Amino acid sequence: MTTTSFPARPTVTLIEGDGIGPEIAAATVRAIAAAGGQIEWERQLAGMTAAEQTGDPLPAATVASIKQHQVALKGPLGTPIGAGFRSVNVTLRQQFDLYANVRPTVTIPGVPSRYTGVDIVMVRENTEDLYAGVEHYIDARRSAAESIAIITRYGSERVIVYAFEYARRHGRKRVTLVHKANILKLSNGLFLDVGREVAQRYPDIVFDDMIVDATAMKLVVAPERFDVIVTMNLFGDILSDLTAGLIGGLGVAPAANIGDAGCAIFEAVHGTAPDIVGRGIANPTGLMLSAAMLLEHVGQGDAAARLRKGILVALADVTTRTGDLGGQADTRGYTDAVVRAIEA
Ligand SMILES: NC(=O)c1ccc[n+]([C@@H]2O[C@H](COP(=O)([O-])OP(=O)(O)OC[C@H]3O[C@@H](n4cnc5c(N)ncnc54)[C@H](O)[C@@H]3O)[C@@H](O)[C@H]2O)c1
Repeated sequence: MTTTSFPARPTVTLIEGDGIGPEIAAATVRAIAAAGGQIEWERQLAGMTAAEQTGDPLPAATVASIKQHQVALKGPLGTPIGAGFRSVNVTLRQQFDLYANVRPTVTIPGVPSRYTGVDIVMVRENTEDLYAGVEHYIDARRSAAESIAIITRYGSERVIVYAFEYARRHGRKRVTLVHKANILKLSNGLFLDVGREVAQRYPDIVFDDMIVDATAMKLVVAPERFDVIVTMNLFGDILSDLTAGLIGGLGVAPAANIGDAGCAIFEAVHGTAPDIVGRGIANPTGLMLSAAMLLEHVGQGDAAARLRKGILVALADVTTRTGDLGGQADTRGYTDAVVRAIEA
């Protein structure tokens, strides 16, 4: 793992995205500025908006911008169905080799939820497994199809090392590797074997492993048992929505896609929320918390802390949080409250 130093005011690619993307991106850019974040935004297109405007859901200019600046903030993207389009999100992660998807899930005071005391960081392998893009019909009549899960020693080791290094950097005590090696003995068995090898290098951190179905149950019954979870792409995709549900839902869940040499794309966990587009009620918290992770990534930890403080104050009050969290505010009212709390 290498680290990159960033200039005092780095240029960051901003992809507003589809659906509620532009609404939550505007709110987030405003909150970052209020928190004193020093970012030069370079706006680029991706997803359905890009496909409609340029014919390409991932234009070359967008790829070039991320390549040049190495950091992006991204709203949710839809993928045009059919016509041979691959998921733009999956393509971006593979193209920039963003192998670790990091999703912190922490109970937020005041936000309605069934649980208290949740503090889990999911580290999901982001480039392999069933999402490697190896799938096809196995006969001309399209009566059967197969998707192949690719797990490599290289891909497993780097994400598991990332999880242990993350645990060390953040003073965390336990890494739990989640798998299905009892059935998928070769692919998941390899991931587990590599995990056991890597764990030997981190005697200061407790290592254990758990089968994915048991994990789903345990996360619901006793989420406080978990600290850092490291898992493969498909399980991580599913379980991280579950963990978002433990703290109040998708609206408050952030994520970072991290590669080596400082390259990273930050995004909310949720999608384009087509059912509420254009109504001004979307909750921008997931993207704002992702932006706080971005600010830390580019060395602006103070601005990140101010942004988080503003978010927590606005979320704690029923009159200033958004409707998806049982609150009374719309996107603008919530963002106003975040900005007020930052400037207080
Ligand atoms: N990272 C991404 O770009 C990403 C992630 C997931 C889904 N998607 C895409 O998004 C589209 C819609 O997917 P979906 O409907 O399954 O999931 P979704 O996350 O968009 O919506 C699920 C539910 O949560 C609500 N919701 C989500 N985010 C919210 C927010 N910020 N504030 C308030 N409510 C919010 C929605 O209104 C909806 O009721 C699909 O095309 C999918 O492929 C993109």
